[in-house]
Amino acid sequence: MSAVEVSQAGLAPKPGTWQIGRWTIAAPVVLAPMAGVTDRPFRMLAREWGAGLAASEMITSDERLWHSRKSRLRRDHAGEAEPRVVQLAGAEPAVMAQAARRNVDLGAQIIDINMGCPAKKVCNRLCGSALLQDEDLVARILEAVVEAVTPLGVPVTLKTRTGWDREHRNAASIARIAEQAGIAALALHGRTRADFYQGEAEHETLAAIRDAVSIPLIANGDIRSAEQARAVQQQTRSNAVMLGRAAQGTPWIFRDIRAHLLGEARPEPLARATLRAIVLRHLQAIYAFYGEESGLRIARKHLAWYSALLQDAASARTAFMASASTAEQFACAAQRFDEWAQAESDSWQHPIPSLTPCR
Ligand SMILES: Cc1cc2nc3c(=O)[nH]c(=O)nc-3n(C[C@H](O)[C@H](O)[C@H](O)COP(=O)(O)O)c2cc1C
Repeated sequence: MSAVEVSQAGLAPKPGTWQIGRWTIAAPVVLAPMAGVTDRPFRMLAREWGAGLAASEMITSDERLWHSRKSRLRRDHAGEAEPRVVQLAGAEPAVMAQAARRNVDLGAQIIDINMGCPAKKVCNRLCGSALLQDEDLVARILEAVVEAVTPLGVPVTLKTRTGWDREHRNAASIARIAEQAGIAALALHGRTRADFYQGEAEHETLAAIRDAVSIPLIANGDIRSAEQARAVQQQTRSNAVMLGRAAQGTPWIFRDIRAHLLGEARPEPLARATLRAIVLRHLQAIYAFYGEESGLRIARKHLAWYSALLQDAASARTAFMASASTAEQFACAAQRFDEWAQAESDSWQHPIPSLTPCR
C-alpha cells in the first residue's frame, strides 16, 4: 500500500489514487501532522494500516534550532515508506527555501508548508496560520520554496485553515496564490485560526474553495469515522481526507476508512489479539526510537489513548502513568492487554512474558 513514483506511463490510475507531483498516492486518506504525536513510530504504523501519506511533525525553518535531540529525531525518517513528507514552518522566504533544500538533502520527498498552526508559539513569530493575514508574504514564501525544491523533483504542498477569523475567510484567495506558485496539493482544515479547535469544522467552506482551484485538495477537520470520511469527501469533492485526532490511539482507523472510500466491503473488525500486538509493537518502537527516559514519557501519552480500549481504562491509565521504567511500563501494558485479549478468546495464548509486576 505504498505510494509509487509515476513510472508506468499509460496505465490507467487505480481507483482512489491521486497525484502529488510525480508521486502517486495509493489511498484517499492521510494522517494529519501532529506535533508531539506523529513521530516516526506513529507515522510508520499509520502507513502500515492504510494512510496514503504521513507528514512529519512540524520542523522550524530556523536551522539554528536543529541541533537539539528533539529536532534531530523529528528529521529522522529511516525505514519509512515513500514518499516521506517533511512539514516546515517559517516566515522568511529565503530561510524557508534553504530549509526545504536541506531537508531534501536529508531525504524529504515532499515538502509541506505549515500555514495552519494556531499555536501562540508559532503565531507570535508570524508563521503558521498568522501568515494568512499577509497574502503577499504567503506568495513569496510559496514561490521561494517551490523554486528551491521542485527542480529537484520534490513537490511542495500547503496545509492551511479557512482564514484568519470568521470575518477574514481568505482560503480561496490563498488557494489561488498557492496554485499559481506551483503548489502541488492543498490540505485544508475547516476552521479559521481564531476558531482554534472550537465548534464544528465547516466542510461547506472547503467545498467552495474546491471550485477556486484545480490542484488536489485534502479535506481536514473532525473526521472520525468511515461514513463521515465519505460524506466529507463527497461534499468537498476532495481527492483525500486527512485525519488527526481520530487516529490517536487508533492508528488502524485508516484501514476502514480507506476501504469505505474505495467502495470496498467493510473489513472484519480487528481481533483483540491483533490490537494488543499493535499496541505492544508500538511501545517497542517508541522505546527504540527515543530511548529509556523520553520513551517512557512519550509512551504514556499513547498508552493513555490506547487505554480507552480496555474495560478498566481508568485504573490501567493510572498503572501506565506510574510505571518507573520502560520495562515496567511494557510489562504492565502486556498484562493489561493480554487479559483483555484473553477475555475475547479463552483459547488464545499470549507469547509475551510479564517482565516486571504491574502496579
Ligand atoms: C496535538 C496536535 C498537534 C498538531 N500539530 C500540527 C502540526 O505540527 N502541523 C500542522 O499543520 N497541524 C498540526 N495540528 C493540526 C492537525 O494537523 C489537524 O489539522 C487538526 O487536528 C484538525 O484535524 P482533526 O480534526 O482530524 O484532528 C495538530 C493538531 C493536534 C491535535
